[in-house]
Amino acid sequence: MSKASSRSTWSNRWAFILVTIGSAVGLGNIWKFSYIAGASEGSVGVFIVVYMACVALIGLPLLMAEILIGRRGRGNPVAAMLNTAKESNNSSWWALLGWVGIFGALMILSFYSVVSGWMVDYFWQYLVKGVQVNTPEETRVAYEAMMADPRRLVFWHTVFMVLTAGVVARGVVSGIEIANKIMMPLLFLILILLTLWGAVAGDMPAALRFMFNLKIEAVKPGVVIDGMGHAFFSLSLGMGAIMAYGSYVDKQTNIGHTCLWIAVVGALIGLLCGAAIFSLTFGYGLTPSTGPGLILQTLPLAFSDMPGGRVFAIFFFLLVIFAAWTSSISLLEPFVSWLTERFGIRRAFAAWGTALPVWLLGVAVCLSFNEWAEFKVLGRILFEVLDQLATRFMMPLSGLAIAIYVGWRLGKVIVVDEIQLKQRTFTLWFNVLRFVVPVGITLVFLYELVLRDWFG
Ligand code: PFF
Repeated sequence: MSKASSRSTWSNRWAFILVTIGSAVGLGNIWKFSYIAGASEGSVGVFIVVYMACVALIGLPLLMAEILIGRRGRGNPVAAMLNTAKESNNSSWWALLGWVGIFGALMILSFYSVVSGWMVDYFWQYLVKGVQVNTPEETRVAYEAMMADPRRLVFWHTVFMVLTAGVVARGVVSGIEIANKIMMPLLFLILILLTLWGAVAGDMPAALRFMFNLKIEAVKPGVVIDGMGHAFFSLSLGMGAIMAYGSYVDKQTNIGHTCLWIAVVGALIGLLCGAAIFSLTFGYGLTPSTGPGLILQTLPLAFSDMPGGRVFAIFFFLLVIFAAWTSSISLLEPFVSWLTERFGIRRAFAAWGTALPVWLLGVAVCLSFNEWAEFKVLGRILFEVLDQLATRFMMPLSGLAIAIYVGWRLGKVIVVDEIQLKQRTFTLWFNVLRFVVPVGITLVFLYELVLRDWFG
C-alpha cells in the first residue's frame, strides 16, 4: 500500500469544517482581538475594517489555496510542498515554505501555550476559591501578581502543553477530531450566553460605537498591519496548520464551500466576542487599553457582579481553554506529522519530543514578563518579539508566497482539478488569489513599513 493511501482522513466533511474552525477560533478571537483592538484606541474602527477586508479578500482565498496544497500533496506541509512542486515541475526550493510553516507554528505555540496557561490559572482559581473582586484596582493587582510569579506561569504553561501534546499523540481521528467534536459545540453555546449577558449587563451601544468608529485621521502606526496580521492569525494561515489539516481531507469535499463556512463563522465569532467583551468593559466603567491582560482585568469584575457569576466564570474560562486547546493542537500537528512521515517515528514519541523544546521556549516567554523583563529587542520583550514576528511578518509573507505559488506556479490543470467551483466563481477566486492577495499584502507592508515608519 502506498504511503498516500494509508494516511488518515477526517470522518466526513463536517468533521473537517469543525476541526478547522477549531483551529481558527481560539485565543486570537477572545484574547488577542480584544487586546489589539483595545490598544489601538482611537483607530479601532480602522483595525476592524482592515481585519474584515483582509479576511474576505486575502484570508478566504488563501485558506482555499492552503487546503488545496495539503490535499493535493497528501502529506505534512514540507512533503505537500515537495510533492506538488514535483508534480508541477517547479523547484523543490518551494518546500522552504513548508519549513517556515512548521517552525513558525512551533514558535507561535511557545507563547500561545503561556497565555493559555493564564486562562487555566484563572479557571482553577474560580473552581477552587471563587475569585471575588470588587474594584478595577483589585483585578489589576491580581493579574500583576500572576505575571510577576514565574513559577506560577511556568506551572500552568506546562499543564497546557501536556494537554496539547496528549491529544496530538493520540492521532488525527481519535485525538484531534474527537477533542474538537466535544469542545466546539460547548464553545458556541457559552459564547452566545456571554454575548447575551454583555447585551443585558454591559453597554452594547458603547461597545459597537467603539468598534466601528472610523476615524481615519487618527490611525496609529501599526494598526493597518495589525489588522492584516490578525486576519492571518485568526484564520491560522501561513503556518502549515491548515495545510496539514487539508492533507487529511478526502477528494469529495468541496474546498470552496467549506472555506466559506470557516471564514464566515470564524470572523463572526471574533466580532461577537469583541462585542461581548467591550460591552462588559464599558458597562463596568473600565478602559479597554490595558494590554494583553485585558480580559483578565475586566471580566472578573463582571463575573463578581452577575448572579451565578462564579459558575459562569468557570464555564467561561473552561471554554476559552477549549478554544485555545483546539488551536494549539493545530499548531503542534504540522511538525509532528512531518516527524512521523519523514522518519517513521511513532506519533506519541514525536508529539512529546516536539513539545519539549517548545515548552522550553515557553519557559523563556514566562520569564520575559518578570525576571528577564529588561532583555528587549527594539523595545520589546521576548513575548512581544515572538508574537509580532509571527503575526506581522511570517504569516503575511508566507501567505504572499502561497498566493504566488498556487496562483502562478502550480498550473491551472491542478488547481481546477482540486477546486471544484462553477466557472464564474472559480475565475473570481483565481484572479483574486493571483492579483488582489499579492498586491494587497505588499501594499500593507509598504504602507506600514515605509510610509508610516513603523520601526520609528
Ligand atoms: N487561529 C488561532 C487563534 O485565533 O487563536 C491561532 C493559530 C492557530 C494561529 C494555528 C496559527 C495557526 F497555525
